[in-house]
Amino acid sequence: MCGIVGYIGWQDAAPLLLKGLKRLEYRGYDSAGIALLNGTLSVMKQKGSVGGLEKDTHTLRQEIPGATLGIGHTRWATHGEPSDRNAHPHLNAAGDIAVIHNGIVENFSALKQELVSQGYVFVSETDSEVLVHLIDRIWKSEPSLDLETVTRSALRHVEGAYGLCVISSREPDKIVVARKGSPLVIGIGIGEFFIASDAAPIVEHTNKVVYLSDGELAVVTREGYSIKTIENVEQEKIVTELDFSLEKIEKGGFEHFMLKEIFEQPAVMHDVMRGRVRLEEGRLCLGGIEDYLDRLKQAKRIVICACGTSWHAGLIGEYLIEEFARIPVEVDYASEFRYRNPIVGVDDVVIVISQSGETADTLAALRTAKEKGALVMGICNVVGSTIARETLCGMYTHAGPEVGVASTKAFTAQVIMLYMLALALSKGRTISNEEIVLNLKELVSIPEKAARILELDSQIKSIAERFKDAKNVLYLGRGFNFPVALEGALKLKEISYIHAEGYPAAEMKHGPIALIDEDMPVIFIATRDNTYTKILSNIEEVRSRKGRVIAIANEGDQEISRLAEHVIYIPQASGPITPLLTVIPLQLLAYHIATLRGCNVDRPRNLAKSVTVE
Ligand code: G6P
Repeated sequence: MCGIVGYIGWQDAAPLLLKGLKRLEYRGYDSAGIALLNGTLSVMKQKGSVGGLEKDTHTLRQEIPGATLGIGHTRWATHGEPSDRNAHPHLNAAGDIAVIHNGIVENFSALKQELVSQGYVFVSETDSEVLVHLIDRIWKSEPSLDLETVTRSALRHVEGAYGLCVISSREPDKIVVARKGSPLVIGIGIGEFFIASDAAPIVEHTNKVVYLSDGELAVVTREGYSIKTIENVEQEKIVTELDFSLEKIEKGGFEHFMLKEIFEQPAVMHDVMRGRVRLEEGRLCLGGIEDYLDRLKQAKRIVICACGTSWHAGLIGEYLIEEFARIPVEVDYASEFRYRNPIVGVDDVVIVISQSGETADTLAALRTAKEKGALVMGICNVVGSTIARETLCGMYTHAGPEVGVASTKAFTAQVIMLYMLALALSKGRTISNEEIVLNLKELVSIPEKAARILELDSQIKSIAERFKDAKNVLYLGRGFNFPVALEGALKLKEISYIHAEGYPAAEMKHGPIALIDEDMPVIFIATRDNTYTKILSNIEEVRSRKGRVIAIANEGDQEISRLAEHVIYIPQASGPITPLLTVIPLQLLAYHIATLRGCNVDRPRNLAKSVTVE
């Protein structure tokens, strides 16, 4: 997804901007550009990587040496193909205003038509270009206005989402920034300020930040910043201290962020539980929802909305909450929920789950649920994210920054949160205190079991070598492990580009069985729970059609080795908690298959880490 950086201060802006853009690469992008201001305004932008841009900015930097103000952008195409001219920043015809923009201008074609009829010439196919011409037009009609005011007036015409930065050689000592639906953060240094679409480019310079809220516009100078609403009402903002360090977002010795994040899972599991699981007291302390727990327990129904991997965590949440708390749960794709006039009201609780806390569809589902009167709760990883701020109550997963586009540690953190939530909703209602303590004891034993699974990495890599050339892979699981089958398949397709599908194992006979032959690897999650014998029958069905079986099974299971070509043995755990373990070999398998195929696992093609547009 697009990324924004900006700098105003006393240092050479170009290297700072380029480094900042590199920190944002993990979000996914197809082109990049920067604008520098030092008396004159100069832009360099092109299709391709920030590394490529860095080489070419050499000339630009010679043209305007010593610029201490600039803005930079990584673009992920929405309107118009990835190309040099569609890359940001966009300039007005006179070349004295530059704009970078994240989000989508929904009424761009009406605005464009109007501007074209007034003689404006568009050089790109982007929606974003209308912004710079709009600002230019307003400024031309009232030249006495300042950049802040003309930007504010321009934004009043704009429908849609934006996080944007505007600079101009007519007012060479400021950056005007504004936000509606697309995140923006201002980092506060000494005599310098950093602007970015998330904290990753800022954290190495300062840990003091201010998050802009929707509908706010800020003017940042070397002396300070002022924040007002688009309607020109002054805003008092809280300065937040970032609580993660740069090392945490670097690779820490692993070849890829994804592998690092897979291996971080035992530690993350501890972090998620820290202070929340009070084993000695036999209880849970879920600070972010404590005041609402009684209302949550009284819910007639819980609806979980999310996208991608978070949706899979939501499916596991459905099984967990229904199993323990006996409250009916529905799980909806956020994108479907928001557009189907959902039946939801004051008796319902809507839980939105999002690693980034910025996913556009999930945010819209949250707002729809709120409008309809539901109690909206969030489970997010990114502190201060929009979803976290807009939900009535919620819990942070504390998984740390997740850089790999394919989500791994955030998923397991979400599942632990849902496990704790299900138990908290059960307390005093559906299960005894003794059972809660037993379940909590099992939960705290999980990180150590996860660490043992990670020791199987080389075995999993050798299995990956055998299956790396597969064209299709089927993932089957039942009960709590059905969503894990979906997640395993998603991981593989996201990063290796092999077609993969997850199914509830019993559904195999209603379709996927037709695909099975000697070229079809089938991955079974066959842990010992109440569906174990059924899974064995499903494995037999695949074997009799010459399918190649890989099984995830419990240590000590001899029977399965007779049936499967490869078995990955994991520690014993009870059914509801197994997803936290069974998913790990599937993450590793996807990772190794993808790297063996030479794929860029951290930044898979066409995917973005944070999908802040529809
Ligand atoms: C993108 C990412 C996925 C993620 C999904 C939802 O598609 O590539 O890894 O699961 O968005 O993101 P969220 O931040 O809302 O969990």
